[in-house]
Amino acid sequence: MIICYLGLGSNLGDRQKNIRLALQGVGSLKKTKLVRISGIYETDPCNCPPGSPRFLNLTAKVKTNLSARALMGELSGIETDLGRKDKRRNSPRPIDLDILFYGNKRISSPRLKIPHPRLKERDFVLKPLKEIAPALIKSLAKEVKVISDIDLTRKYAAKVKSGGKTIGFVPTMGYLHSGHLSLIRQAKKDCDICLVSIFVNPIQFGPREDYKKYPRDLEVDSILAKSAGGDCIFYPQAKDMYDLGYSTYVNVEKITDYLCGASRLGHFRGVATVVAKLFNIIRPDIAYFGQKDFQQALVIEKMVKDLNMPLKIKVMPIVRDSDGLALSSRNVYLSPREKSDALVLFRSLQKAKEMILRGERKAGKIIAAMRNEISRKKSARIDYIIIAHAQTLEPLEYVKKKALIALAVYFGKTRLIDNIVVG
Ligand code: PAJ
Repeated sequence: MIICYLGLGSNLGDRQKNIRLALQGVGSLKKTKLVRISGIYETDPCNCPPGSPRFLNLTAKVKTNLSARALMGELSGIETDLGRKDKRRNSPRPIDLDILFYGNKRISSPRLKIPHPRLKERDFVLKPLKEIAPALIKSLAKEVKVISDIDLTRKYAAKVKSGGKTIGFVPTMGYLHSGHLSLIRQAKKDCDICLVSIFVNPIQFGPREDYKKYPRDLEVDSILAKSAGGDCIFYPQAKDMYDLGYSTYVNVEKITDYLCGASRLGHFRGVATVVAKLFNIIRPDIAYFGQKDFQQALVIEKMVKDLNMPLKIKVMPIVRDSDGLALSSRNVYLSPREKSDALVLFRSLQKAKEMILRGERKAGKIIAAMRNEISRKKSARIDYIIIAHAQTLEPLEYVKKKALIALAVYFGKTRLIDNIVVG
């Protein structure tokens, strides 16, 4: 019998029930045995028409004596039985069944492509697949160039540059999501080579913060980073980045007195230090940061300017999921209740923007309205809400030209940040 992996997804009707019925259908196929299923992952619709509902996804391992084509025909029959009428790709559907792998076989016909061609771009396939086929994910991850050694990374980057090629660099702490991937795509668009670092930097976490439990998954990250255009992943070890007796730090003053700088003492010292070290190792032409961490991007821009570092910084827009929540690796900590409460963040930022558009200029009044809306959510505890000058980050009493509206709010134990720039 051939071992196959299937992907199941549902975003229409009673999604749980559709999945249950589809699994029953797969289990009762002739010459086929359902062996294992993963947990269910809820995800945003990907490349679907606007307003499409969210998906429930999972993967299943089956053993079969059917040919790949016959199996696909049977799966298509289950889709039809469960009411999938619109068979166009990405249309909302009660159930979508894909063959991810059929043994080691590669098929590339117009109607059937195996392995599934978009599997490596999708965390909602890779993560459940890892649960039931860890060795398979390991072997996919092995196809990606990952360097841990600092000197080897320096040599790799220097070789790229001596060949006349440009390097786009995306520093991350991993557990990659579409926000990170948007930076990687841009880097690959602008530069010849895209280098991505994955390093959960201990010195930017406070003693009571989540350094130890910060989510990590190098294998899935490597596959996702490569499929978005990453050529190489730098994955240093903390003991090599900060060896015994390490004692040099970069401190960007003033703009770190506000916002997250005020509530996370020492955080930006840790960020600026690690980013300076990464820049020194890699010497990129352009480095990419997200507006999601507005203050962080400003701190890095200031450091680069003040220390005459020879590179350009590009800041990319915030990627949000379909209901407005800014993507963050920390979103995995949220319970379903906390996650639904957290949608208030973007709503309150939008509300602030509307108030300004309607002519309100008093920062205090806008902040009070936001505070009022957010504190109605049971799991929310506000750390700060600030309207600030978009360059100096000094709090504004009146909104004049360009202003940053930024907030940090705990939902349960998880601290989320978000912002918009107005004017
Ligand atoms: P991390 O939180 O992994 O984020 C890496 C980069 O991705 C940052 O530039 C961040 O702003 C960007 N990013 C995160 N969420 C985003 C979203 N929803 N849309 C667009 N971009 C997003 O930020 C760090 O890591 C670290 O502090 C680091 C700079 C790597 C230093 O350790």
